[in-house]
Amino acid sequence: MSETNPNHGNSVTIENFCTEKHLAYIMQAGQNTQEFATGDEIIFWSGEALKNWAAEKDGSMLVAINQDMEIVGFLLAIFDEGRTATLENIHVRESFRKQGIASKLLNEFENRAARVGMKKLRSFCHTTNTAMSNLLIRHHYSEGILTQWYVSQPSLVNCGSEESGFQIRKINIGDVDQITYANFSSILISDLDHQDTPSLDLAQIIHGAFLNGSLVGLMTASAHKPTSKATIERIFIDRSKEASTVIKSLILSSAKYLAMQDISCVTIHPFTEKNVSLDLMALLDALGFKKRRVFVMNLKSVKTSNDKEKS
Ligand SMILES: CC(C)(COP(=O)(O)OP(=O)(O)OC[C@H]1O[C@@H](n2cnc3c(N)ncnc32)[C@H](O)[C@@H]1OP(=O)(O)O)[C@@H](O)C(=O)NCCC(=O)NCCS
Repeated sequence: MSETNPNHGNSVTIENFCTEKHLAYIMQAGQNTQEFATGDEIIFWSGEALKNWAAEKDGSMLVAINQDMEIVGFLLAIFDEGRTATLENIHVRESFRKQGIASKLLNEFENRAARVGMKKLRSFCHTTNTAMSNLLIRHHYSEGILTQWYVSQPSLVNCGSEESGFQIRKINIGDVDQITYANFSSILISDLDHQDTPSLDLAQIIHGAFLNGSLVGLMTASAHKPTSKATIERIFIDRSKEASTVIKSLILSSAKYLAMQDISCVTIHPFTEKNVSLDLMALLDALGFKKRRVFVMNLKSVKTSNDKEKS
């Protein structure tokens, strides 16, 4: 029977995750939460990944503690150097739900993300997860966009022959001049900035594709070393070039680079409803990426203290 009490949430405090005190609970709850499954099985973080992550002490792992000093909820997020904070998992113990505890966790996550300079908040949830999507709407996240979850081990990304004629190398934001950039179109994955002039502000690792010395494509990825996880964030291709050959070369080179950085899992989230993403998905299938479930992606811009004063 549910022991719900609408006032419980008020007496809950939000604290930092502590490996010694909270690891066992989070592992147990995480491994049994169907909503965390990206495919048929629930694959939760390993204990080692959670420990490494906590050692960062960046305030991205939170627990909700009740008056009896029990854990009643947790929130795990990745703050990446590209200034996007991704909400990876949020969970409230069943008998403590609907008392505002997730809202408290989310508020604290947003405050901390703002404090460490994050610009965007991002969340992925199952299309059937009404509780989560209502929670996000209540917290003013964007209307969700459907994305296809693809995952691979970087060392397994392979297309047989690698001869493409492109030269791929890691580049910095400053290496890209705005004129070249204006000729690029964005391949639609993972974020909502695609209608704006492409901007690399959110890039952490950038690979450029060159043909006869000219830049013809770019791919950005964010990597999180404590969990050995990376995400391919954005792809821009020169409009006059055949996109799939450029993208293939960029993905292969980035995967090699990520494997050398000890990244063991790379994800990419093409939008399912855009034609160009369908081509990208066919390419990911050919490169050996595993297709998981369709997820709803919701975004929110982080309010600075100036924005808050104005509103
Ligand atoms: C999603 C979850 C974290 C919500 O936790 P919670 O503490 O019950 O949420 P809150 O009490 O803070 O609710 C805040 C808002 O979320 C929405 N919400 C929460 N539970 C809901 C439900 N069962 N049905 C519909 N809306 C719901 C409501 O809009 C609610 O505001 P309201 O009560 O004023 O209407 C919880 O249901 C959970 O742990 N689910 C399993 C794990 C999961 O799905 N995580 C998300 C994937 S990462």
